[in-house]
Amino acid sequence: MIRVGVMGAGGRMGREICRSVVAEEGLELVAAFDRSYQGMEIGALIGMPVEGVLVETDLDKLLDTVEIDVMIDFTVADAMRVNVPKVLKKGIAVVTGTTGLSPEERAEMGKIAEENNTSMFHAANFAIGAVLMMKFAAEAAKYMPYAEVIELHHDKKLDAPSGTAVTTLAKIAENRAPMRQGMEEEYEKIPGARGGEYEGMRVHSVRLPGFVASQEVIFGGLGQTLTIRHDSISRESFMPGIMLAAKKVQGWKGLLEDLENIMD
Ligand SMILES: NC(=O)c1ccc[n+]([C@@H]2O[C@H](COP(=O)([O-])OP(=O)(O)OC[C@H]3O[C@@H](n4cnc5c(N)ncnc54)[C@H](O)[C@@H]3O)[C@@H](O)[C@H]2O)c1
Repeated sequence: MIRVGVMGAGGRMGREICRSVVAEEGLELVAAFDRSYQGMEIGALIGMPVEGVLVETDLDKLLDTVEIDVMIDFTVADAMRVNVPKVLKKGIAVVTGTTGLSPEERAEMGKIAEENNTSMFHAANFAIGAVLMMKFAAEAAKYMPYAEVIELHHDKKLDAPSGTAVTTLAKIAENRAPMRQGMEEEYEKIPGARGGEYEGMRVHSVRLPGFVASQEVIFGGLGQTLTIRHDSISRESFMPGIMLAAKKVQGWKGLLEDLENIMD
């Protein structure tokens, strides 16, 4: 049994992850950490019977009192910056999907993992369909290099553009030369109308109730467009990837990123 703790256990992702860990063979939910819900039974929070796991808001206390093999972190960037190094320094492996950190910051945490003989896994998107969307988009860019990204998320999301959008842009950028898109003379009548820019590609972030996580990558060519779209219509879409990472993360030292690197 792999003993699993969840950071951000009271959040939208955290609750779904706790439910999946409880249901998953080979994993045992032993700890729940959040900045809220001190002392609350995690079972009551997720609507499932879980014996003896109360939400803890003091991470140091939790790490000193509970034996954990793998910590899953879905919080916010500022919390992750503080908490994940503490967990790694205890020799506990980390699976994280928290977005908003730079690749350099994650690499730094990977070093801490290595120094403490443990490991960390990060994916900007744990849904298999999103992994395929990024893979196909990177491939399409070789033949249709003019691209724009539209990502659509629920209106509680803090960072923009999404981690998935940034990863997608980086993967496309590996397969095309940086270039300006649109007219040299173009101008915005409303600031931001053309979106953010990444090596000449534009990225647009939609925030509306109703969405979980969706993304379109639109390629334009002579007389044609190609749209590659992925929709996570529920948070369940992320769970198989997160459970897989929780089972595999103790198999290496340091940082490993992207779901495709742990899929058989
Ligand atoms: N990689 C993926 O596939 C994927 C998918 C969905 C969401 N996400 C990311 O997961 C993260 C969480 O998303 P969410 O929708 O569940 O958000 P949420 O706001 O519902 O949950 C975040 C939880 O973290 C807790 N938290 C915040 N600061 C904390 C701190 N300092 N210490 C302890 N707990 C703290 C909050 O109390 C909350 O319960 C975000 O970064 C989001 O972008 C990643």
